[in-house]
Amino acid sequence: MKSYDIAVIKGDGIGPEIVDEAIKVLNVVSKKEGFGLNYKEYLMGGCAYEAVGTPIPDVTIEGCRVSDAVLFGSIGGYKWDDLPREMKPESGLLKLRKELGLFANLRPVRVFDELIEASSLKPEVIQGVDLLVVRELTGGIYFGEPRDNDGQTAYNTMVYTKDEIIRIAKVAFESAIKRKKKVCSVDKANVLEVSRLWRKTVEEVALEYPEVELSHMFVDNAAMQLVRDPKQFDVILTGNIFGDILSDEASMMSGSIGLLPSSSIGGIVGLYEPIHGSAPDIAGKDIANPIATILSASMMLRYSLGEEKAADLIDNAIKSVLHDGYRTSDLGKYHAKEVCSTQQMGLIIADRITKV
Ligand code: IPM
Ligand code: MN
Repeated sequence: MKSYDIAVIKGDGIGPEIVDEAIKVLNVVSKKEGFGLNYKEYLMGGCAYEAVGTPIPDVTIEGCRVSDAVLFGSIGGYKWDDLPREMKPESGLLKLRKELGLFANLRPVRVFDELIEASSLKPEVIQGVDLLVVRELTGGIYFGEPRDNDGQTAYNTMVYTKDEIIRIAKVAFESAIKRKKKVCSVDKANVLEVSRLWRKTVEEVALEYPEVELSHMFVDNAAMQLVRDPKQFDVILTGNIFGDILSDEASMMSGSIGLLPSSSIGGIVGLYEPIHGSAPDIAGKDIANPIATILSASMMLRYSLGEEKAADLIDNAIKSVLHDGYRTSDLGKYHAKEVCSTQQMGLIIADRITKV
């Protein structure tokens, strides 16, 4: 029997709860499709800091490196807010992305017809939205140097090299070819030098993809256009911090940030995680929405393991469960037949797969 090694990082806050549900679903689908999944758990984030004094132990990085894919929940929490930068949970995740070379973060935004009422935007604005945020993940202001804080001034620098822009632009154009063949590159080229280099470089890369239509937008305008008329977008190509912000904004098309998965690729091994954070305020209450993580697990099957059929089974089961009116409490108000807990939602999706 074919089998795959999955590095599992549950992390902090709601991380462990939502990853457990994804594993529940993965177990059912792998059994059905006849392949094996060997999970190995690793520490990262605040929990790693508590246990071993660093947010990302070397064994975690090594374990991910030798795995076939990484499934990750979330990290962070108020408790660790005042730690020095290199000890913060977030630094663990940034280091992992960097060490694994995961420069491309793909965040698909789709609207389930079943949840059209759940969005704060009007149904006619969002019905049929299907866009992909391609976010650069290992450069930009997140990794700029130098940085310092003497208690009086603090600064971060937004740096991109031409090569970093070329490789992420290629991912966006390649993705667009498989979709509606449109790339909108988002920057702040009216103010920032780094964005002017970004824009010029993206234009050069575009010459290799004549079948793809390229447009540019300033990030402030893009934020506005996303809520005005999101259907104009196919692939949004952007840098690290703009992509972080715009993808949270775009998640509201779907009604809940608890619905959006992501994959981080381009390096040694793919990493799959929900786009949301660790939600410490609801951690341990069994109310978090596990769907973003379960959809991330589906992306893992599709893109890292090539198990397309298993991925389809998960995606269809989620659609069908939402269609039947099962909702976690974040979506509880919207045509809910039954409001379910995190664990119930995982079980209902898993059962649906068994019964197909
Ligand atoms: C995300 C998160 C992370 C980021 C944090 C937790 C470091 O917000 O994956 O979007 O900013 O990249
Ligand atoms: Mn974010």
